[in-house]
Amino acid sequence: MRAISVANQKGGCGKTTTAVNLAASLALKNYKVLLIDLDPQAHASFALGIKTEQLDRSLYNVMTCNEQKKRQLSDVILQLWDNLNIAPGHILLSTAEQELSNKVDAISLLYQSIDSLGTSYDFIIMDCPPSLGFLTFNALRASHLLIVPIQCCSMSLVGVGKLINMVELIQLKFQRAPKIKSLVTIFDKRTTYSKRMVREIRSYFGENLFSTMIRVNVALREAAAHGVPVIKYNARSTGAHDYTALADEIIVDSRKLFLEDFYEEAEQFLQDVRTKLKIQTFALLAPEAKDVFIVGDFNNWKADESSRFTKASDGTWEKRLALKPGVYKYKFIVDGQWHHDRNNPKSVRNNFGSVDSLLEI
Ligand SMILES: Nc1ncnc2c1ncn2[C@@H]1O[C@H](COP(=O)(O)OP(=O)(O)OP(=O)(O)O)[C@@H](O)[C@H]1O
Ligand SMILES: [Mg+2]
Repeated sequence: MRAISVANQKGGCGKTTTAVNLAASLALKNYKVLLIDLDPQAHASFALGIKTEQLDRSLYNVMTCNEQKKRQLSDVILQLWDNLNIAPGHILLSTAEQELSNKVDAISLLYQSIDSLGTSYDFIIMDCPPSLGFLTFNALRASHLLIVPIQCCSMSLVGVGKLINMVELIQLKFQRAPKIKSLVTIFDKRTTYSKRMVREIRSYFGENLFSTMIRVNVALREAAAHGVPVIKYNARSTGAHDYTALADEIIVDSRKLFLEDFYEEAEQFLQDVRTKLKIQTFALLAPEAKDVFIVGDFNNWKADESSRFTKASDGTWEKRLALKPGVYKYKFIVDGQWHHDRNNPKSVRNNFGSVDSLLEI
C-alpha cells in the first residue's frame, strides 16, 4: 500500500482536482483505491457526488476526540465503484482540527487508522485542506509520498518552504517522512509567462517534479460540478489524459519506492546480522596436506563441505567462519589426523587425553 497526500496551503492550486482525478485514474487501472477527504470544505466528496450534509458519519468521526462520536476508519468508508472507496469529509472536521491541537499523540491518529486497514488498498490518496494545521500534519505523517500541486501563477511558490519544514519535522520526530514531489497544475502552455513559471518551479524542486503537467481544461471544472471524475465525464479531454499520465508516473514511482524500501530493510537486516556475528579466521601452515577441516562446538564436531579449509599457493590453509559471541572448543582435522590449533595458545584438556583449542568471542 502506498499512501499519498496532496497538500499545499495555497488555496485553489488544484489539490482536490488532483486527489479526485488521480484516485479515479488509478482505480480505472484496476488498483484498489481509498480517497480520504481531510478538508472541512469537503470538495473532494462533492466532486464525487456525495452530499456530506446528509451523512451520519464521516472522517470527522475518525478524527474527533469525542468518545461518543468516535468511529473506526473502516466504519465511515463508502464504496463509489468496484475499486474506488471514499472516507468523506465534513464541515465538522474544522472542530476536530481544534480538538486535535491539544492532544500529544494527535499527529499519528490518521497514521494509526490507516494502519488498521491492513492491506485492503493499493493506494490511499489524501486531499488536504489549504492550511498547515493538524489535519495536514496527520496526512503527511501517514504518507509515503507528498504531491505538492503548484499552479502556474505568480506567488505560487510562496509558503511552500513551510510545508517542506513540516515534512522535515516529521522526519526528525519519526525517522520517516514522505518523499516530496511537485506537480505543475492549471498550466497554460500558450503563455510565455506559464513557461517561465515552470522553469522557476523546476529550479526550486529539481528532480522532484512530475514530468506530467496538468493543463488548463474546462472539463475538469465541469466534471467536478457534475459530481464525477473527468475520466467518466469526458474520457477524451486533456484533463482525463493528463491525470491518466500522472497515474502512470505514480505507478512507476511507487514500484521504485517499494524497491528502495525493500533494499533499505534488507540492508538493515544484514547490518543487524553483521553486528551479531563475528567473522573469525583460522589459519594453518601445512604445504604437504591434502585436506583440512575445522570441527568444534559451533558445528557439532562435523567435518563437511562447510567446514573445509581452502589452500593458498604458499601452502597455508584458511577458513573463515561467522560465529555468534560465545566460548567454543575446536580442532583441525588434517588428512584424517586431529590436531589442536598451534596459532592459538588457549586450550583445554578433553576426555580423550589430548587438548582442544579454546576460542572466546
Ligand atoms: N487544470 C485545471 N483546469 C481548469 N480548472 C481547474 C484545473 N484544476 C483545477 N481547476 C479548477 O480550479 C478550482 C480550484 O481547484 P481545486 O478545488 O482542485 O483547488 P484546491 O487546491 O483543492 O482548492 P482549496 O485550497 O480550496 O482546497 C476549481 O474550480 C477547479 O475545478
Ligand atoms: Mg481542495
